Amino acid sequence: GRLLLAYSGGLDTSCILAWLIEQGYEVVAFMADVGQEEDFEAARLKALKIGAKKFVLEDLKREFVTKLIYPAVQANAIYENVYLLGTSLARPVIARGMMSVAEKEQCDFVSHGCTGKGNDQVRFELAFYGLKPDIKVVAPWRLPEFYNRFAGRAALLAFAAEKGIPVQQTAAKPWSTDENLFHISYEAGILEDPDTTPPTDMWRLTVAPEDAPTVPERLRIEFAQGLPSKVVTESKSVTDPVEIFLELNTLARKHGIGRIDIVENRFIGVKSRGCYESPAATILRVAHMDLEGLTLDRNVRRLRDTFVTPALSQILYNGHFFTPEREFVTASIPASQRTVNGVVRIKLYKGNVIVEGRSSEEGLYDEHESSMDELGGFEPIDTTGFIQIESIRIKKYDFLYFGRCLF
Ligand code: ARG
Ligand code: SIN
Repeated sequence: GRLLLAYSGGLDTSCILAWLIEQGYEVVAFMADVGQEEDFEAARLKALKIGAKKFVLEDLKREFVTKLIYPAVQANAIYENVYLLGTSLARPVIARGMMSVAEKEQCDFVSHGCTGKGNDQVRFELAFYGLKPDIKVVAPWRLPEFYNRFAGRAALLAFAAEKGIPVQQTAAKPWSTDENLFHISYEAGILEDPDTTPPTDMWRLTVAPEDAPTVPERLRIEFAQGLPSKVVTESKSVTDPVEIFLELNTLARKHGIGRIDIVENRFIGVKSRGCYESPAATILRVAHMDLEGLTLDRNVRRLRDTFVTPALSQILYNGHFFTPEREFVTASIPASQRTVNGVVRIKLYKGNVIVEGRSSEEGLYDEHESSMDELGGFEPIDTTGFIQIESIRIKKYDFLYFGRCLF
């Protein structure tokens, strides 16, 4: 049969490509440009040399930013309080690109190099089935005839030599990475000991905060309905979504912003240590949440934080993107962001994103009403009743009478 392979150019997917051909598949190699630093031409030549019938590269950067990243920014999506979901966000876009190429290239089969222990296999395959229910998945790392034969890197290297697959001369980094324009992840290898400090030269996107400039840099981010609409830096002003992201990445990288080192719970239940750099995304999160303080209704915010943000984050992490619940949850986001319009002024300094001020035309914040120096239409006597009513049940509880511990 004809098969579409998610190809990366690395050792694993190169061996998988050769192995699939050995199994009798006619293979089309697929690569997505989601903003990773990559020599796509070298990957194309390599795939064709190994025996791919065709190589297809799709530029999915704009779709990635506007369809996946922007709603995540609007909803403040975050997994286990720290991970900004950079890999999870790219998967639905890559899967969408793959299923339309599978359709065009008449591939009945699809394959990938995800391991059997990870999140990505689940994300990719659920997305494939959501988009093209009749697709047949070949997951080599879950097939005993594959994983028993290629247990360990030595077996893969021997197979590569046998098949004439060029292996990069540079010693492989002792960890695995996944990069796109939102982030880079580092997992596995020496990082599997959660108490191993990542070597300083592991971090590829950002400078170490201690090496960042000692002079802070300032910028303004404008939001329209919770979406960044304009970024004004000391030297330029950008409005295009992809350019906004790239510009914020450049600034954040220079100032050492967006590094985390965590142990997370994977969907399949195992824990995993991962390091991540999400430069632009970290700035946008701080700025967006700050503007919500000024412009978002209290009860909308509470509902959103209680239900929408955790639900969307879980859906993204677990790969439930092409599902009814994701449609339901994302449909609620614009309604929560109608008033999130305004400007946030930011200072970047040695790993920190510092808010220096914010402004908005929206009417929720009233300086006179909030002032400690004037009444501004507020009748303090009304609060006496408010406290009386609030205290009804509290008086009944009577901590002292029932002899309870006071604290
Ligand atoms: N643990 C992160 C996640 O599940 C990163 C996964 C990285 N994927 C990869 N194929 N290297 O989203
Ligand atoms: C993999 O297992 O292929 C990478 C890590 C993950 O998907 O969680």
